[in-house]
Amino acid sequence: MKFSSTKALVTQTQLAPLVDSLDPYRKQLSAVAKKTDYLEPESSIQLPGDGDLLKRMKAAAKRLHTPTLQYVIVIGIGGSNLGTQAVYEAIAGSMNLLADRLPKLLFLDTVTDEKMTAVTRVLERLATKDDFLVVVISKSGTTTEPVANMEVLWEFCREHFKNAHDRFVFITDEGTKLWEVARERKLEAFTVPDQVGGRYSVFSAVGLLPLALSGINIEELLDGARQAVQDGVTASPQNNHSIISACLTFQHLQAGRPIHNTFLFSPKFEALGKWYRQLVAESLGKDGKGITPIVSIGSTDLHSMAQLYWSGPDDKFTHLVFSFTGTVHSIPQHLVLPGLVANLQGASLEKIMRAVYGGVQAAYEKIDRPYVEIDLGKADAWELGYYLQFRMLEVMYLARLMEVNAFDQPAVEMYKSVTRELLKSLD
Ligand code: PA5
Repeated sequence: MKFSSTKALVTQTQLAPLVDSLDPYRKQLSAVAKKTDYLEPESSIQLPGDGDLLKRMKAAAKRLHTPTLQYVIVIGIGGSNLGTQAVYEAIAGSMNLLADRLPKLLFLDTVTDEKMTAVTRVLERLATKDDFLVVVISKSGTTTEPVANMEVLWEFCREHFKNAHDRFVFITDEGTKLWEVARERKLEAFTVPDQVGGRYSVFSAVGLLPLALSGINIEELLDGARQAVQDGVTASPQNNHSIISACLTFQHLQAGRPIHNTFLFSPKFEALGKWYRQLVAESLGKDGKGITPIVSIGSTDLHSMAQLYWSGPDDKFTHLVFSFTGTVHSIPQHLVLPGLVANLQGASLEKIMRAVYGGVQAAYEKIDRPYVEIDLGKADAWELGYYLQFRMLEVMYLARLMEVNAFDQPAVEMYKSVTRELLKSLD
């Protein structure tokens, strides 16, 4: 991953005191990263170096991966599915429709008849229970949506397949009701370390198991993340992108730019943007403070949002995220309808996107609006592991600068308990 802040419009004089103020916390994180006890709120940074976890996840994926496995249904919401979906879609693509990449991950997050119908239609075409696996993920074990989706799917599978219960596996905290029920019924269950919160859990069983089942190289994913931990706790600011990025965002927040726009130049990165949106919103939105994260997709959203970005209020700090790594499709030399757009002949689709990207940079520069650039290289498992970990550390540093607790989400917990209460009274 290459991080460039030359157009961030923040001076060294503004940045230096912020970087210095984070030094004690950097040292604290460096110490946490060296341990394996999962006892600190920041302990998610221990996951990438947990060799035992990697071994267990690889073995579990091997055991659960039948020769005919075609679909893995991931039931979970928020921190329990967004990271997995982010990595999966960045690698498998946003229109991952063809059968040439099996098994496929299908995500059930919210409760909707539409999604449940789609999933059950897929399942009813399968010959045996070995063709699918359901991974139910809820750290608390009591979130309404995943429990509801699990119950509907369980009943469906009971009616359509013989003894399908062993095609359900569970990921939850040790000791939750879900954990107890799974144990009583002798169902397979994996745990998440207590101190690793949902939105920081992508490198625990939560992300590793489904990703490994889908064929993604989790070893490389963790290698990338480990490098990001090393870089994110280093004292050398030029290599510590997490600290620099946190300080830039904080500086812009203070300068009246409370909106953070992650502008990703491929539809396959949309889930990556939404994972980060949750990380920022839930970690930093508290005590009357917060940064409003938004996600834009290039070039699609240039045709819906760019007018606002370049002519509306100067209240946003933008991160341009891209991976330009090769060409597959090109415009033919002989056009069917020549003369519509100049210089198209022979251009690859990627070359066109690069031109769009250049146009976006020029637009920001012309009006002096700040942006940073993040090059995801090949956007493979390694790069994605690096990116996710870089972001999680960045948000921990930002929380420190903003003086908020990055690891709780009291407002979300409130809505969850009211929902459970309302279920008693609604028809
Ligand atoms: O990041 C978080 O803590 C939340 O977004 C949770 O992941 C989300 O609410 C789902 O919770 P649970 O995994 O307990 O079902």
